[in-house]
Parts: sequence; C-alpha cells; structure tokens
Amino acid sequence: MSKVKLALIGAGLRGINYTNVAISNPDEVEVVAVADPWEERRLNFQEAHQLKDEMCFTDWREMLSQPKLADAVLVCTQDNMHFEPTMKALEAGYHVLLEKPMSPDPVECIKMGEKAKELGLVFSICHVLRYTRFFGTIKHMIEEGKIGRLMSIQHNENVGYWHQAHSFVRGNWRNSKESSPMILAKSCHDMDIMLWLAGASCKRISSFGSLSHFRAENAPKGAPKRCLDGCPAADTCIYYAPKTYLIDEPNWMQLAISNDLSYEARQKAIEEGPYGRCVYHCDNDVVDHQVVNMEFDNEVTAVFTMSAFTQECSRTIKLMGTAGEIRGAMEKNEIEWIRFGQESSECIHLDTPGGHAGHGGGDEGLVWDFIKLVRANGSEKGLTSADISVQSHLMSFAAEHSRLTGEVVSLSSFAEQFAAQANA
Ligand SMILES: NC(=O)c1ccc[n+]([C@@H]2O[C@H](COP(=O)([O-])OP(=O)(O)OC[C@H]3O[C@@H](n4cnc5c(N)ncnc54)[C@H](O)[C@@H]3O)[C@@H](O)[C@H]2O)c1
Repeated sequence: MSKVKLALIGAGLRGINYTNVAISNPDEVEVVAVADPWEERRLNFQEAHQLKDEMCFTDWREMLSQPKLADAVLVCTQDNMHFEPTMKALEAGYHVLLEKPMSPDPVECIKMGEKAKELGLVFSICHVLRYTRFFGTIKHMIEEGKIGRLMSIQHNENVGYWHQAHSFVRGNWRNSKESSPMILAKSCHDMDIMLWLAGASCKRISSFGSLSHFRAENAPKGAPKRCLDGCPAADTCIYYAPKTYLIDEPNWMQLAISNDLSYEARQKAIEEGPYGRCVYHCDNDVVDHQVVNMEFDNEVTAVFTMSAFTQECSRTIKLMGTAGEIRGAMEKNEIEWIRFGQESSECIHLDTPGGHAGHGGGDEGLVWDFIKLVRANGSEKGLTSADISVQSHLMSFAAEHSRLTGEVVSLSSFAEQFAAQANA
C-alpha cells in the first residue's frame, strides 16, 4: 500500500488532531510539511513529526509557492482563512481536506466546490459526524426501513454551558464578524447530518434565536471585566475562569489558552488573555439559543434546537417514521429502536468513545476516509463530497438569513443567487 504524504496548514488543535494518524501509522501516512506562523506550535509540530527545517514554513503562501510537496494539504486555519489557501492548494494540484465551516461567505463555498470539481481533485470537508458509529448506525437503520418511511426529525445540539462560555463567549467563535455565526461555526455539522439523514435536498427553512444570557445586564452585581480582578461572585459564578482553567486535570480547553500547561502559564493566560474575561463582559455576539425548521424535497420535516443551556456537550435525536421511532443520545452511545405495535423496544449500545474529544470516533473515521480517497486519486467516492457540503453550508446561511430577517427561505432561489455571483 502506497504511503500518503500530507502537508498541514495551521498546526492548531484541529490540525494536530488529524495528523496524529501519521504518528500512529507511519507505514501508511506521513506528514512532510507544516505551515504556521506561531513559532512554538510550529516547532512542537516539527519535533512530533520529525520534519526537516526546510519543510517548516511561517505562512501557507510560502509553503504553496514551493514545487508540490505532498499528495494532499490539510487546511486547518481559522474560519475566515480557509478560502485562499484552499484555492491555491487546489490550483497547485493538491487534494484538500478543509475544516468546517468552508467559509463564512456562501460565494466562496461555491467557488471552492466548483474548483475541486473542475480539477477532479478530492476535496473533503470535515463534517466529522457522518463518520461516527452513532450517526452511521442511524443512517443504516433508516435505509433498512427499520422505522418505515421517515417523516420527522427532532435534533438537539446540547452545546453545554461551559463549552459555550469557552468557545462562543470568550473564545475564537464568539463574534460572527471575526469568525462566523453560530449556525455556521458550530451547527453546520447538524445541518449536514440532517441533510444526510433526511435523504433529500432541503426545500424551505426558517429560524429564530438570539443572544439572551451572555450580556452585560446579566452580570453578577459588581463583577469586574476580568474574573481575577476581585470578582465578588468568585465563589458562586459557574463561569469564574479559575474553575475551568486552573484545575488539576488539564483538558482541551486549557490547551486552547496556553501551549504551556504549567499552573503559572495558565494563570498568566487568564490574567492577560481572552479566557480570563467575565462572560458577561465580552465582545461576543453569537446566539446562545436557536431553532431551525426545515422541510425537505421528500416531505420529511425537521426541527433543530441549539442551546448553550445544557449540562452535557452532545447531540440527542429522535427520528419518527411510519412504522416506528429511533431515539439516540450520542454522549451515551445509545440508540433505542421502537417498533409500533410491539411492547418492548430494542436498545443498541455502541462501543465507541463519546464526548467532545474526537467527536465520538468521527475525527479518525474522516481522516481515514480522506486518505483512502487520496490513495485512489479521486476515483472513489467518500461518505460526503464538496457538492453536498456546499448544500449543507447553504442551509446554514439560509437559516441565519431567516433568523435575521424573519423570512421563510426557499433554498433553491437562495442558492441560485449565490451561484450566479460565483460564476459572474
Ligand atoms: N470539524 C470540527 O468538528 C471542528 C471542531 C473545532 C474547530 N473546527 C474548525 O477548525 C478550524 C481550526 O480550529 P482550531 O481550533 O484548530 O484553531 P487554532 O486557532 O487552534 O489553529 C489555527 C492555526 O492556524 C495558524 N495560522 C494562522 N495564520 C496562518 C497562516 N498564514 N499560515 C498557516 N497557518 C496559520 C494559527 O497560528 C493557528 O495555530 C476552524 O475553522 C474551526 O472552526 C472544526
């Protein structure tokens, strides 16, 4: 089996996560180059993958101006830095794995999809949920007709109050102008999974939601701008920064605030950095709760709820068909199959890790699928494609449009206007 060579743009949390497969499977995958301006991250990555100095770059432009270095490029920079490196990498003949969301601009999403198609290159978007055993099993059950004809989907994204505070109030995805709106940044996964499970294109969409809690008027009395500046609510506030970032067992949130996980470095990070800010005094504007209603071409209807106000960070789903129901809880790795007219239901326990890290096995599944497609040089089909990812991204854009304008959006005319702009 030929070894697949990868180059990484953006050695952040996601980029490191995907490329770990090369460390554990050196005979099958090799990372040959990295680009990241953050010296500490670049050097750590260089050491982990034993890269030559001349294969480490401070910017993606420098990397992509070299003669072709690898079979594929992984673009793992922040949301608004996806379009340019992806277009350049495709033009240079690389297969591309791109982080979601593809771009905060619908026209750019369409342009990237069309470019990959025109050049016949593999272009996969990191819609990791499709690769989980949890959603894979549900999809299979629908296709096998276990609940008859699918009619309705009720899907919840339970963000978790602590995850909302970290990523969407204090962190990188707090402000839609700097990254993208919540429905794109976080919930484009959910739009994609509903498109997949419904098994037809989305026809109409409407949405409501707002940022209601993480606002200044809800701050505890006398709360300063930063937690460590003598907050009077330190004992009672669940968002008091040391309770998340100075605990003994380091987790992915602590890694996001400091590469150095020593207590002193983390203390400094919350004294000076964005993660030490009071959650009620940040520059966040993304919603903390939102609903989306959808109607698909095959008459399936779906309702999606995203909420910050949950204990768990996971997804729960209920699918209703003419002959039964499927109920699933991703965190618990549990799927219940109910058949109408039968007294007892069947419970399926999946033997895969749940939770935030690795998206219940989805991250690894996605990388291996991409490697398989690259090895086949684009002649095979994966679980998803750029065309489909563009469709599900357009559902997110349409939902946001509806939330802001109050309109019910018809997907076909909504998509046409952006396609016309992309091809102008
Ligand atoms: N698929 C998923 O489930 C999932 C989950 C979380 C985040 N994401 C997405 O993954 C992407 C990356 O997220 P992250 O948490 O790893 O972010 P991150 O900020 O940790 O990493 C991004 C890296 O890009 C680097 N970078 C900046 N400018 C660069 C340049 N010119 N050239 C090369 N590198 C450059 C930064 O220095 C940083 O190290 C985001 O788009 C995010 O929305 C996807």
